[in-house]
Order: sequence, then C-alpha cells, then structure tokens
Amino acid sequence: MDKIIIEGQNPLSGTVSISGAKNAVLPIMTAALMADGISRIDRVPDLRDTRTMIKLMEIVGAKCSFEKGSLKIDGSSVDNPEAPYDLVKTMRASFYVLGPLLARFGSVKVSLPGGCAWGPRPVDFHLKGLEKLGAKITLSSGYIMAEAKRLKGAKISFEFPSVGATGNIVMAAATAEGTTVIENAAREPEIVQLCEYLNTMGASIQGIGSTRIIIDGVDSLHAADIEVIPDRIEAGTFLIAGGLLGEIELTNVNPSHLDSLLLKLKEAGCGIHTSANSIRINPADNLKPVDMTTAVYPGFATDLQAQWVALMTVASGSSVITDTVYHDRFSHIPELNRFGANIKSDNNTAFVRGVNELIGAPVMSTDIRASASLIIAGLIAKGQTTVSRIYHIDRGYEKIEEKFRALGANIIRDNSPG
Ligand code: EPU
Repeated sequence: MDKIIIEGQNPLSGTVSISGAKNAVLPIMTAALMADGISRIDRVPDLRDTRTMIKLMEIVGAKCSFEKGSLKIDGSSVDNPEAPYDLVKTMRASFYVLGPLLARFGSVKVSLPGGCAWGPRPVDFHLKGLEKLGAKITLSSGYIMAEAKRLKGAKISFEFPSVGATGNIVMAAATAEGTTVIENAAREPEIVQLCEYLNTMGASIQGIGSTRIIIDGVDSLHAADIEVIPDRIEAGTFLIAGGLLGEIELTNVNPSHLDSLLLKLKEAGCGIHTSANSIRINPADNLKPVDMTTAVYPGFATDLQAQWVALMTVASGSSVITDTVYHDRFSHIPELNRFGANIKSDNNTAFVRGVNELIGAPVMSTDIRASASLIIAGLIAKGQTTVSRIYHIDRGYEKIEEKFRALGANIIRDNSPG
C-alpha cells in the first residue's frame, strides 16, 4: 500500500496551481445524467473520487470519456437507475444520483451510505425533501428505493443547510411540476455552481447563493458544458502549510471563496496578498494561536478544520477549535499527538497547546482531510514522517506530493510492495 514519506522542515517557495473542486464536480457529473446528450466538463481533477463517480456514471449506462482534465458524459444511453453498495460505501457523494435519476426515470435504487470514518452521516434531509416532492421512499436490504411518476414542486425547509441535500433536491426539483422553494439552503460555492450549471441546462433556478432557492420546474434539461470552479479546500490546505513554511503563491484560485480562512491566517500573523485569481502568503514570524469555529459557508470550512489544528500545534500559545458542522470529526488528533503535539478534545472541541516543535513519526490517514493535516504536520516536523493509508488523500487531492515537492518540500510517494 502506498505511503508518503516526508523529511520535514524544508522551506517552501514558489507557485502552485489549484485544481478543479472535487465537491463541485461530483454533483455536476450527476446533473449531466438528466440530459439526453453529451455534456463536457472541463478542469476536472483526476482524483480517486472522480474516477469512482465515472464508474458509477458507466454503471447507470452513461458513456464517459476523460482526457486531460476534460470529461464528456453522454446521458442519452442512461438506462439503469441504480447505485450499488460497493461504490456508495467507498464514496458517499454517490448519493447525488438519487435526485437526478428519480427525476429522469420515475424510480431509482441507491444504496444507503453507512457511517463514515468520523461517525454517522445521515441522509434523512435528502429523503424527507424528496418525500415532500411526492416521492414514495422505501428501504429494503440496505437500499433506498424512491418512486414518483413526476415529482411535484413543494416548500422544503431544512433543519440544517446541508450541502448534499440541497444539491439533491435542487436537481430533483429542476424538472418537477410547479415551483419548489428550499428554505435554509446551503450557500457553498459548489452548490452555487451546481445551480448555475442546471440553469445552463435549461432549468429555472433563482436565489442562487442565498438561503432561499426557488426552482420553477421545467419539462426537460439539455446537455451543457461547464468549467469547474477552483478547489477552495485544496487551496486552503496549501495556504495553511504556507502559513509557517514559506512564501508561496496560489494561482487559478478564487480568493473570495476563502475569506474566513484568510482572516484567520492574518490573525495568526501571516501576510496575505490577493488578486482576482491568485493568493500569495508570507509565513508568520511568530505564529499566534487563533481560536476557530467551523460553520457553513461563508464560515470557516469543516474541511479545513484538521489542517488548522495541525498549524496550531506549533503556535505560540493555546487555541480552541470547535467543529459545529460535524461533531466528531477529530480522528486526526491522536495521530497529530504522535508528532508530540499537545491536543485534547471534548465533544466537538479541540484544545491545542502550542509546542516548540513537532518530531516526525509514522502516522496513519483516516480520511481525506485528516490525511492533509498529517502531511502538513510532517512538513513542519523535524525528521522523517511516514503517512500510511494514503488512498484517502488520493480521493480528494490531485498529485499532492508532486505539488508540495515543486514548492521545495522533501516528500515522496513510496509504492514499493509491503
Ligand atoms: N446532515 C443530516 N442529515 C442529512 C444531511 C446532513 O443530519 O440528511 C448533517 C450532517 O450529519 C452534518 C451536517 O448536516 O452534520 C452537514 O452535512 P452536509 O450534508 O452539508 O454534508 P455532505 O453534503 O454530506 C459535503 C462535502 C463534505 C463537507 C460537507 C460540509 C461533498 C461531496 N462533500 O458533505 O466534504 O465536509 O459538505 O461542508 O460535497 C470532504 O470533501 O472531505 C468532505 C467530507
């Protein structure tokens, strides 16, 4: 199994180009299943999750070709509205086929995702929302079956602005009969892009980017092309590494998607300079401890919480980090403590006492973002770090070790057997 080996404390410098966003491309791919024709998606990151979604597209009957970041999906041959357990269990985002396939076929069968590495992640908002639209939902042998001849517009109010449930309901409602209003909708840039993409496919969606989305159902959608937005979480991961390790510049990035992280980095003592599509960071001379609480967009992203904890391990004092989106997303803490970090957690809060230095250690990835935090810790630490189970990182980061190596890090992938 591949490992990443890092010799820490090499300064970083130079430019890194940010890839297309994983969490934008995955729902966009499922939206393409709603059209009878070929949609082209550009700037698609070559990730394990993108490949898993391509596999799922092919299982449902779509024809796909993926070359040099350009993905073509032909939705005209889609004929098998079913997402099998084997794929859904490896990638929860497979659940995004539920809304589009139900809308197009009037019935769909999708494996119920189980728990994930950091605890339960229910899908009740997706299901309640579809029921409001008139779907009959049943659960049998671990599969959700949803049926509706044609969905009907309804008013849906989410208890929490779930990204996935907003995406699924927007897609399902795009071709429903009548108007759907979603209250307390997610405002994440990835959801904004999904709605904009559906509009280019012929949907009629208003209130995009607000907490109230209004969808006037249309009879059908047509194929359309799109370029995926930059990955704000990949960008944030590099910025957090730069916060301590060197002056780096990110290109092909959208700084306005990263406002809350940039504020925190400034508070910690880093220099930040932005232009329309680049961000330069100068590391802090004396990294200050900065408390942080995750929140839905435009708050600090939960997907950057683990990386922020890694940075705070060497701040000049104590910080308190709370995750309000996921209450138990802390599997990175025991691994970070293996570097000599001083972190304790209680419920959804981590208490980090800054130490003078981290010392490299063998550690294990547990999920995508936890892995990124271990790589950051390995880059900061003195001596050698080996990060195992890096298939997690390959799910969400394109060539992360090559990008860090180009910035001057001493980091390699070891794929020797055993
Ligand atoms: N929730 C429910 N019921 C639901 C849906 C969500 O209780 O039916 C709860 C969740 O348990 C969680 C909160 O609502 O406490 C937010 O979950 P959300 O539905 O917004 O998350 P998601 O759509 O499953 C996406 C990203 C995650 C990211 C979260 C939060 C994709 C493919 N995944 O997940 O990304 O952490 O939004 O921003 O877009 C990652 O990229 O590493 C990742 C985990």
